[in-house]
Amino acid sequence: MTPRTLLPDLQAYSEVKTHAATLKQASIERFFEADDSRAETCTLEAAGLQLDYSKHLLSHDALASLLKLATQAELQQRIADLFSGKPVNNTEDRPALHMLLRASSSGGHKEKFKDVVATRARMQAIAQRLNRGEHTGYSGTVITDVVNIGIGGSDLGPRLVTSALKPFQGDIRCHYVANADPADLQDTLLHLSPASTLFIICSKSFRTEETLENSLEARAWMLTAGAKATELEKHFLAITTNLQAAEEFGIPSSHCLPLWDWVGGRYSVWSAIGLSCAIAVGWERFAEFLAGAASMDQHFRTSAPSDNMPLLMSLLELWYCNFLGAKNHVVLPYDHSLERLPNFLQQLTMESNGKRVSVDGESLDYTTGPVLWGSTGTLGQHSFHQLLHQGQLLCPVDFVLPLTTHTGMAHQHLNLVANCLAQSRTLMLGRSLQAATDALLQRGLGIEKAEKLAPHLVMPGNRPSSVITMESLNPATLGALLALYEHRTFCSAQFWTINPFDQWGVELGKEISVGIAQKLQESDSKITMDGATERLIQRWKNAQK
Ligand code: F6P
Repeated sequence: MTPRTLLPDLQAYSEVKTHAATLKQASIERFFEADDSRAETCTLEAAGLQLDYSKHLLSHDALASLLKLATQAELQQRIADLFSGKPVNNTEDRPALHMLLRASSSGGHKEKFKDVVATRARMQAIAQRLNRGEHTGYSGTVITDVVNIGIGGSDLGPRLVTSALKPFQGDIRCHYVANADPADLQDTLLHLSPASTLFIICSKSFRTEETLENSLEARAWMLTAGAKATELEKHFLAITTNLQAAEEFGIPSSHCLPLWDWVGGRYSVWSAIGLSCAIAVGWERFAEFLAGAASMDQHFRTSAPSDNMPLLMSLLELWYCNFLGAKNHVVLPYDHSLERLPNFLQQLTMESNGKRVSVDGESLDYTTGPVLWGSTGTLGQHSFHQLLHQGQLLCPVDFVLPLTTHTGMAHQHLNLVANCLAQSRTLMLGRSLQAATDALLQRGLGIEKAEKLAPHLVMPGNRPSSVITMESLNPATLGALLALYEHRTFCSAQFWTINPFDQWGVELGKEISVGIAQKLQESDSKITMDGATERLIQRWKNAQK
């Protein structure tokens, strides 16, 4: 195979660079003054979402050049390869077909789709049985609580979806345990009764230490409460590709739902890994969630690059990271239900694109996956927005804003919306020295004091943000939103020529931890380590005395 052309070697790269040099001095506000229709022309709609990307330091000409990069990087071919099941995860020689999990037809993957449909039917049956109160535990008590034990993709997706769809929550309460810290499980179990609790062990590999440790403890909790070993299967389900390991753990295959190696952990919420969500909100809602994502898939696969929402968002990421020096990206959902969105997106984007070699193994000397961070509005306004407005870092922001609230408290929601729009507008407008001085004079300060204080009130402005809106946050729009970011992540990986579907960088730390755990347990270990680690190990040992 011919090696991929690296980003700086694409023909349009220098053209985009020239635009960046010019636009560094440009004003976003002036763009609006020069073009009445900017807000309209810089808006895209797809799958119930609207993306307003007008408040960016981007001219139509610069965007046209970025779109040339998309053509030269053969983005449309890459998208076709993804959907056709080519082994786009080249280091593991696998396709990445998570879209099939939410599809309504096989799209040429007949055998795989058959398994998907069969698994969906099993998920539906399990969710319905639980929601009808037909699933009972060892003592005949109806199951009222489900605990999902998993970490990374086996936790963040289901946890986000369940909390985002809380307004649709049925009677069964779902809880999530992920951490190696025993306090996580302990805190969760404190309020639960073994007789009415069902554990879902989610682990693609069924080898993840945190998950296995927590599962063993959960089993011990059940046994201590009086469940017989033969009755445990009433309280445990497993979702995994490693059915054998699950069986060895004691979960019979009839209580296991499969996952496949063509689904990456961070792309797996659409699979049986999402079972807890289906239980929490009911099967119909979960099916709507899948359909919302499928609708974004359809948009992504078929739209021209200039109308393609995930691709456009990826071009913006490229623009700021590779041409204007940004190293981070901020996501600010203005909806309390989406408080877990930034955590989910951190794994999605940083585990996917936090890479330093190309698909061909070449070291890369340009920025790839930026740091993603954020929190819900308006909480962030009272903590880190200071830095967004007056700090020295370039922080492109995505505001995510459902336009209505499920709370029935429309007036308070109006204030939330006002805050969101105000933040985006303020980032763009900033405040000049003159305006700052005038504001202080108006507050009654004397001219001398006003002039002294004014520099502290100056806000440079011209700071870019997108606003993603939806009529309401519901299963379908949530599905579309997550699929949007998945595809954005994929597109950026193509520009950076990296494989977004492997995660070799997480392996070494796990291996080293095994050696350290061994050393912590031995009194005269022969294993030697660096001075700092040795000293910390000794400090830990002293604390145990
Ligand atoms: O360590 C990283 C990782 O492999 C993630 O990619 C994955 O989502 C998580 O661990 C959990 O893995 P598993 O589902 O196999 O337990």
